[in-house]
Amino acid sequence: MMVRKSRIVSIHAGAMFLLLAGCVVSPATSDAPVVPEDRVVVKIDNGPYIGVSRESIDALDAFRSGATTSMQHYRLGRPAHDTEITAWDVDIMPDGHGLPLGSGTVAAGAMVYAQQCAACHGKSGEGVSPYLALSARESSDRTVGSYWPYATTVFDYVLQTMPFEAPGSLTNDEAYALTALLLYMNDIILAADVMDATSLPRVVMPNANGFIPDDRENSNTTH
Ligand code: HEC
Repeated sequence: MMVRKSRIVSIHAGAMFLLLAGCVVSPATSDAPVVPEDRVVVKIDNGPYIGVSRESIDALDAFRSGATTSMQHYRLGRPAHDTEITAWDVDIMPDGHGLPLGSGTVAAGAMVYAQQCAACHGKSGEGVSPYLALSARESSDRTVGSYWPYATTVFDYVLQTMPFEAPGSLTNDEAYALTALLLYMNDIILAADVMDATSLPRVVMPNANGFIPDDRENSNTTH
């Protein structure tokens, strides 16, 4: 195989994709390692050199320049639509910050649940193996009701990730209604309670105080 002194690409460390997308080819230097002809040497800060194929660099150049045909050629997908970005761009905090408009009842949640959730999680949240139960049968079961510390997180999770095959497809009202149903299934709210951006953060979960910050030296995790 033909080898030669390769050109050096000097860049800052970061996610590989961004790192390559942002790279600039600089003139050859004397300490360039010897690599196969089709490789470009990428240097991360002052750290290691890595060999990247010329094709990858071309593909990323094409992606950056927005050349659709090149993107298709290199199977880089397509730019995300605004609606897709909106569905992904959700940050809901435990205190309810970031909760969207909308509301939902237990009864409305039951209708959506029967159609979109029961096949995996069971008619009453008991779980259909291998899928998780959403309400506890035994006191040792870890579920939304027995384990999750915040009701707002349940809403956030359902809105963004469920149903499993179509994440991001639920409306805000449906996600509020499903959260209401899950809380009702776990005996945390009453059948007539309505969940929205005001009421949901007020729900106190049974395990709200079950997580304590681990303040030991050399640790910054929460257990
Ligand atoms: C195709 C099967 C499937 C369907 C349908 C489905 N889920 Fe799930 N669900 C899963 C799987 C798998 C997980 C675990 C995902 C993981 O841990 O990454 C899960 C996890 C969950 C959890 C977290 C449970 C826990 O304690 O960690 C909730 C809450 C949930 N689903 C709610 C719903 C709701 C509400 C619907 C209906 C809109 C739904 N799911 C539809 C498969 C499904």
